[in-house]
Amino acid sequence: MRKQKFQWTHMTGGVCYYPEHWPKTLWADDLERMKKAGISVIRIAEFAWSLIEPQEGLFCFDFFDEFLNLCSEKDMKVIFGTPTATPPAWLTETYPEVLNCTLEGVPYRHGSRRHYNYNSATYQKLCARIVTEIARHYGQHPAIVGWQIDNELNCETSEFYSEADHTAFRAFLKQKYGTLDALNAAWGTVFWSQTYTEWSQIYAPRRVISNGYNPSMLLDYTRFVSDSARKFCKMQSDILRSYIRDDMFITTNGMFDRLDNHAMAEESLDVYTYDSYPSFAFGLDKNPKAPGALNDRDWSRSLIEVRSICPHFGIMEQQSGANGWFNRMEGPAPRPGQLTLWAMQSVAQGADYISFFRWRTCSFSTEMYWHGILDYDNRDNRKLAEATDFFRKLRTLDPVCGAENAAAFALVKDYENSWDTGIDSWHSRIASVSEYEIFAAAELNHTPFDMLYLRENTELADLRKYPVLVYPHPVMIDEQRANLLKEYVAQGGTLVIGCRAGYKDLTGKCVMLPQPGLLQELTGTDVRDFTFTSPNEEASYAVWNGETVETGVFNDILTPLEGTRVLATYGSSYYAGAAALTEHAYGKGRVLHLGSTFSRANAKQLLAYLGILEPFAAQITAPEGVEIVLREKDGKQFLFVLNFQPEAQTVTLHQEMTQLYDGTTAAGDVTLPPFGTAVYALN
Ligand code: GAL
Repeated sequence: MRKQKFQWTHMTGGVCYYPEHWPKTLWADDLERMKKAGISVIRIAEFAWSLIEPQEGLFCFDFFDEFLNLCSEKDMKVIFGTPTATPPAWLTETYPEVLNCTLEGVPYRHGSRRHYNYNSATYQKLCARIVTEIARHYGQHPAIVGWQIDNELNCETSEFYSEADHTAFRAFLKQKYGTLDALNAAWGTVFWSQTYTEWSQIYAPRRVISNGYNPSMLLDYTRFVSDSARKFCKMQSDILRSYIRDDMFITTNGMFDRLDNHAMAEESLDVYTYDSYPSFAFGLDKNPKAPGALNDRDWSRSLIEVRSICPHFGIMEQQSGANGWFNRMEGPAPRPGQLTLWAMQSVAQGADYISFFRWRTCSFSTEMYWHGILDYDNRDNRKLAEATDFFRKLRTLDPVCGAENAAAFALVKDYENSWDTGIDSWHSRIASVSEYEIFAAAELNHTPFDMLYLRENTELADLRKYPVLVYPHPVMIDEQRANLLKEYVAQGGTLVIGCRAGYKDLTGKCVMLPQPGLLQELTGTDVRDFTFTSPNEEASYAVWNGETVETGVFNDILTPLEGTRVLATYGSSYYAGAAALTEHAYGKGRVLHLGSTFSRANAKQLLAYLGILEPFAAQITAPEGVEIVLREKDGKQFLFVLNFQPEAQTVTLHQEMTQLYDGTTAAGDVTLPPFGTAVYALN
């Protein structure tokens, strides 16, 4: 999103509410209690298609008219959802072609949600009609401030195999390649006699033996799914736009895979929102006690990614209770303090709107264990008390609204490489390890960073904002991106890349060039040998300045070309003594090439070597268990201090600061209670 079209001007508190789940006699009391708790906005209606169009073509607005009028009366603002995630039973019975299908072509039936496919012309028509009717009816409603399109596009599944998808995939490919010859060449279909001689022979993935798919085909399929979701969103956004007031915003809530969220936000949204459920980290299928597990702190990584889509985003669904469906996903309730901690984690990373999911736990159906603020008994409880206290604190953060996040470096990503990790397990293994470990090194050492997506419209200025770019594994690269990186370094930037760089093109085929391919001029290295580290050998390590540093799961054995300095050498395996980390001057800048994946230890050492570790060390000293984030606005700096530990933690403030929650000043040692948070204005 190059220019964010909508920004909150005040820190705003909200909640998700489902008037259709409750007797009308509860509505007024609910709205009044919400207002008392500090909630000024509610999101409604995103699953209410069957209420609004109970029969085909019959549109009934009495229910929401009555509810919205009550909202106006109680001065409650509303974000209205388009209900297209849940087509009614009459619709899927009459038009079964709208259903998404399994890989085997078996339709997903009515009874859950998100069972439609984006490409059915029938579904598009029916969605366009209901969105038009709703927008026409409510587009000027005084209580409504914004619109949410659908709900969590690509959640539940991001795979689509209906007949409409097969047809649309062919059309997508025809447009992309023009001829079958070009497609056959791009996919390398000569392998295993896969050559296509008619467009009709091509399908979205179907079951093949041993899952031995053509990876280039899967990559295009991923692009196709993203394209389909984007078009579906754009179709709704265009309709809304032509009926709603100019001061209303359009959003959707993410963030899910196989979807170019950046492009979708740019073309269809005014602001992006995210659904944050950090206690997924403690689910029964996880091991929160695994050595080095970051657990709920890992949500900061997703929030940083959301910020790359939209710097001043909102949280449409912030966890307020235990998560769970009746048959899956069991999670613990937030401990006292954690509800605030997780919401402040969102604010720290850039959110200016926090809306909890949900006001009251639904007492029936699939999500009856997805707990909200209130429980089934509807009494005041500790979660309501904590949410009320959080909203009070949030109001004190008004000066932070719209503030930018400070970043010591940018972690560079791009959709091609991210999508390839969903297909290519070699790529996925190195990419997931490195991103997590770089995040961990930065997070535990109080070194905030941004994510920067390289996209077609990325400009040099977007890169120049950062003194250091870490692009862990640009496995796939093209001339345009390589040239952009060259310009960035030539003008004085520092680029760090890891192993497996530049060995594929954007079709997913390996290039017949010395590695790192198009990046070789930048790195000044040659990769003549490479390997996954072997479980039969000692853990892979390198020696840097006499110290031993753990490397990772994959090692490129680097040969420095002329003028390239060796900073570290491998200490283990048959390549002991070979270069593991090099530095190459290029123009006014430099490129560090790490032959391995990133580990927590080598990433920390790299950040220290580059002089960007702990940028706020002069202001604050904090233990590893505490997250430090800084937001800045109009020359003012705001330090978020978040204790993720179940024990009290002490931080040291090296200058006098004002605690925003209560206006008191603080300096020296400050103890945060278990899961405690503080936000300081640097005086
Ligand atoms: C979100 C979704 C909500 C609700 C919640 C709990 O992913 O947007 O509608 O389902 O999860 O399952």
